[in-house]
Amino acid sequence: MTKPDLLMIGSYPPWDMEELERDYVVHRMWEATDKAKFIAGLAPRIRALATRGDLNCGADIINVLPNLEIIGCFGVGTDGIDFTATRPRGIKVTNTPDVLTDDVADLALGLMISVAREMPQAERHLRAGKWPDAMMPLATRMSGKRLGIVGLGRIGMAIAKRAAAFGMAISYYNRSAKPETGYRRFETLTELAANSDFLVAAIAAGPATAKLINGDVLKALGPDGFFVNIARGAVADEEALITALQNKTIKGAALDVYLDEPDIDRRFLTLDNAVLLPHIGSASVETRKAMGKLVRDNLAAHFAGRRPLTEVK
Ligand code: 8YV
Repeated sequence: MTKPDLLMIGSYPPWDMEELERDYVVHRMWEATDKAKFIAGLAPRIRALATRGDLNCGADIINVLPNLEIIGCFGVGTDGIDFTATRPRGIKVTNTPDVLTDDVADLALGLMISVAREMPQAERHLRAGKWPDAMMPLATRMSGKRLGIVGLGRIGMAIAKRAAAFGMAISYYNRSAKPETGYRRFETLTELAANSDFLVAAIAAGPATAKLINGDVLKALGPDGFFVNIARGAVADEEALITALQNKTIKGAALDVYLDEPDIDRRFLTLDNAVLLPHIGSASVETRKAMGKLVRDNLAAHFAGRRPLTEVK
């Protein structure tokens, strides 16, 4: 059987590249200097596309591939993929849910503790040799505080489960009510923020959730509140967030995601009340291996004439 041609928008870990090379004719778009020319040269041959949750896979690419059948996304968030280009043509889209839930939830809790207890600041203090001269200013307790989760999906639930072990009172904002959880639901995000010490974004990005965490929500969170984002930069109004951090109308923010990645707004770098990570939510060897395997299993199922395991409708 001839190997299907697979166009990869961005790189995957080396172990995935090795496996993919075995089963597909792999074309590495990220290595091409003139991407449009590169795609034009092989467009009709491409039957599969591999992207990542942190990359854009827009109509500009999808529309020039006349024989595209399936897109595999290395990540759970598919907001980078243009579904208005895939749906009319019946192009399948798959993602990697579940396998990364624990890692992302772990990181959310890590960010909450980091921002409240000022762990990065304390480490900077020590490394700068300042300890013998001055103690760190006292920080904020996390245990027993009120946690507001924006988006009570798989990752939101995993965050809640962990936060419960910290004795936190859990509330949420979600399209549908989840009475079985016993957590308190707020109808509006502003109400949730007003009743939270920590507001954590765990909601999928998309037109319906763009800039959901806006200036009013941050104002409701208040000067003692912390905002944590492990979802997507686009779900927060970054301008409003930077202003709130600069003016200290919220106490702090801990972010793993930004509007423009990896070239984030430089103003973040000047803010001492922000803990900043470079989109590492799913970045453990164990999880990334499981994500890569799921991408491959989805593609393999499709080319074997079976349904992909985790198709996004
Ligand atoms: C990325 C993510 O896919 O799952 C997601 O939605 O954002 C991440 O896991 C990661 O950046 C992959 O490179």
